[in-house]
Amino acid sequence: MSPILTTPRLTLRLPANDDAERITLFLSDYAVASNLARVPFPYRMGDARAWLRSRRPDLPPEETNFAIELADEGYAGQVGFHRGDNGIIIGYWLGTPFWGRGIMTEAVTAALGWFFNTSDADKVLSGVFVFNLASLAIQAKFGFTETGRSSVLSLARGREVEHIDTQLTRAQWMDKHS
Ligand SMILES: CC(C)(COP(=O)(O)OP(=O)(O)OC[C@H]1O[C@@H](n2cnc3c(N)ncnc32)[C@H](O)[C@@H]1OP(=O)(O)O)[C@@H](O)C(=O)NCCC(=O)NCCS
Repeated sequence: MSPILTTPRLTLRLPANDDAERITLFLSDYAVASNLARVPFPYRMGDARAWLRSRRPDLPPEETNFAIELADEGYAGQVGFHRGDNGIIIGYWLGTPFWGRGIMTEAVTAALGWFFNTSDADKVLSGVFVFNLASLAIQAKFGFTETGRSSVLSLARGREVEHIDTQLTRAQWMDKHS
């Protein structure tokens, strides 16, 4: 499966080896990495290459990641799905030059629409570190609700951080998008 999603400003496509340099540039920024659980810091080109090697085109929806591209500005970040201990998780990040322009709201809309159309999952999990109000604001727009609090290791911070656990059910998504 090689899905390509288009929105008014963005193309979402599978990540490619050529993205390694931009991924490294953007994830080498502590402002990005420190809001994520699984990104080491400092982040090196070898980390990007290793991750890209794991991105085969035949992965199921719950393991699919999209590179986010803007027409004139190129690669901007990622949005994607992975399996966690309690279910399927959506995660996302943008390089700092792209923050504050509504890009992730647009990308997450496309990714969730594709996911609920393509899989039969009845919900998607997510969450934010307690201080990540921008990400919480994005999730609130889609109807994600808090399911509890946990402690999640941030590799970049090198410690556990209080985490707001959230979920979006298929019914909540359909309520707003059918
Ligand atoms: C979180 C992140 C993806 C946001 O991307 P973005 O394209 O700037 O987000 P958007 O512009 O689509 O939406 C952000 C929303 O948060 C709001 N927001 C931003 N900063 C905020 C703050 N400090 N407090 C409350 N709301 C805030 C914005 O007003 C906007 O809402 P609006 O559209 O209603 O005005 C981006 O900052 C990022 O990649 N951060 C680092 C990685 C990360 O945090 N990933 C998510 C981990 S859970």
